[in-house]
Amino acid sequence: MADADLVELAKRRGFFFGSNGAYGGTAGFYTFGPQGAALKRNVEDAWRDRFTLQEGNREIEAPTVMPEAVFEASGHLDTFDDMLVECAECGSSHRADHLVEAVTDIEDAEALPGEEVEELIADNDIACPTCGAELAGLDVEDFNLMFATDIGPGDGQPGYLRPETAQGIFVEFPRLKEYARGNLPFGITQIGPAYRNEISPRGGLLRLREFTQAELEQFIDPEADEPPLDRVRDVDVRLYPATEQQAEDGDYLDTTIGEAVEEGVIGSPWVGYYLGVAQEWYERIGVDTNRFRFRQHLAGERAHYAADCWDAESEVDGDWIEIAGFAYRGDYDLSKHDAYGDDSFTVFKRYDEPKTVERATVDPDMSVLGPEFGGDAAAVAEALETLAGRDPDAFEGDTVTVEVDGSGGDDAREVAVDAEVANFSVETVTENGEHITPHVVEPSFGVGRTVQTLLAHAYETDEVDGEERTYLSLAPEVAPRDAAVFPLVTNDDRLVALADRVAADLRAAGLAVAHDDSGSIGRRYRRQDEVGTPFCVTVDRDGIEGDGPETVTVRERDSAAQIRVPVDDLAEELAGLRAG
Ligand code: GAP
Repeated sequence: MADADLVELAKRRGFFFGSNGAYGGTAGFYTFGPQGAALKRNVEDAWRDRFTLQEGNREIEAPTVMPEAVFEASGHLDTFDDMLVECAECGSSHRADHLVEAVTDIEDAEALPGEEVEELIADNDIACPTCGAELAGLDVEDFNLMFATDIGPGDGQPGYLRPETAQGIFVEFPRLKEYARGNLPFGITQIGPAYRNEISPRGGLLRLREFTQAELEQFIDPEADEPPLDRVRDVDVRLYPATEQQAEDGDYLDTTIGEAVEEGVIGSPWVGYYLGVAQEWYERIGVDTNRFRFRQHLAGERAHYAADCWDAESEVDGDWIEIAGFAYRGDYDLSKHDAYGDDSFTVFKRYDEPKTVERATVDPDMSVLGPEFGGDAAAVAEALETLAGRDPDAFEGDTVTVEVDGSGGDDAREVAVDAEVANFSVETVTENGEHITPHVVEPSFGVGRTVQTLLAHAYETDEVDGEERTYLSLAPEVAPRDAAVFPLVTNDDRLVALADRVAADLRAAGLAVAHDDSGSIGRRYRRQDEVGTPFCVTVDRDGIEGDGPETVTVRERDSAAQIRVPVDDLAEELAGLRAG
């Protein structure tokens, strides 16, 4: 089904539609209708179940507005840009890299310098998609995607709507590590809105200016912590590693998570672990695995914080879309916040056995803090050698701790020396551990893109009773409703009353139930099929006549097969059918 058809269908059936229509609409903002809001919430609940509860992780909810200093530290202020070209004729704005990709073989024009993109626009005679005017000769600018705001009245404090939920987790690390009692590994999740002032929103929920992310920040000691890889070792995956041939279709690697990690195709076992968990989760919620793959980012494609990244991609309308990213963020984020913020973003790693080390104590009056030594004890030792004429071997490389009296010995990274310093003393001390900056592995899911994928993959047509029908074969776990209840006819009070009672009982049992008594029974089935309701319960005369217990028919959506079930067993029976 074409993208545009899916968006139209989503609107017609109450899944989602462009927001603010009464005011001309606002590109990049979508409202989830009654079906869509339920589907989205079910996807979020399924994600929470798998990535928070089953993993033993903990969920938080942070504000969506954050002060500028956070994004100075995170790098978003400087680098979270897209390439913008504005048409001189009609004033419309466009993603310059996308325009180039549309008419060349280049797949990641985003990684090219702006001047090269300008040249490609000129060489390929690229015209404005809105009015057709020439774009050659126009500047390609970096456009920062963050929405700016003021916190408080007057001059206030500059702030931004968060462009990823992740920063709300990173900035609270000093407190979150306390809740974890300083023990690695631990994972923090968050589901909530993120905002990006996209230049060209498109494709329904695919590129929005406000969207929901479900993110997990897994904090690990890279030297000690191993994921429980055995749990997903045998999970089959289709990988698309970052090879030179990646651009060629069909260059897949069908393998298992265990093999891919052992053979180094997936560099980090933690990333491998979460790719396996994600593969199982996507299958569980109804993504068609034949239209799903993991693709590794090419070097130029990675975000500023990522050392390695794999995307989960689904095929929708012939295009592969990124629905989640799995990034190895290393210590990038925590180191940055440690350097810019006031708190400590390290954890104390206790040694198995205490170690005896030589500690150099530097004159407290010297000037300190040199980013050039950024966090590397060996670099500080090297600086001491250069400046003080000492042999760094005397300090045994990275076991040396350099401390300014009064700093609490908290962190070697905070200490550097100026050219005047030659004045330090060395003592032998016993240490129980060291402060390390955890590394971060981040599975990051787009909830809207997942919803759009589910709708596209669930869309089916077939023939029932000689009539063509369309239906959504949504997994019962995520379908907007669990069941619909109908009286077969509406002119029989007994049937209507029983249908009301059955619907109320099912709701009381925690099921989301629709009640529909308008139109023929065939039409009512079709309406429910079209929104993916997995079971329709029909109350008919056969079920209330005779001496036996009251019964109803339950019709399964995909097969259209019906079974008769006693009313008293219905909630349990539906729960069983729902679980498969
Ligand atoms: N914290 C990492 C991060 O934000 P990302 O790849 O930029 O990584 C993660 O975003 C996911 O969020 C994407 O895989 C996608 O599903 C979703 N996403 C990103 N930008 C989006 C947008 N403008 N509209 C809808 N979903 C978006």
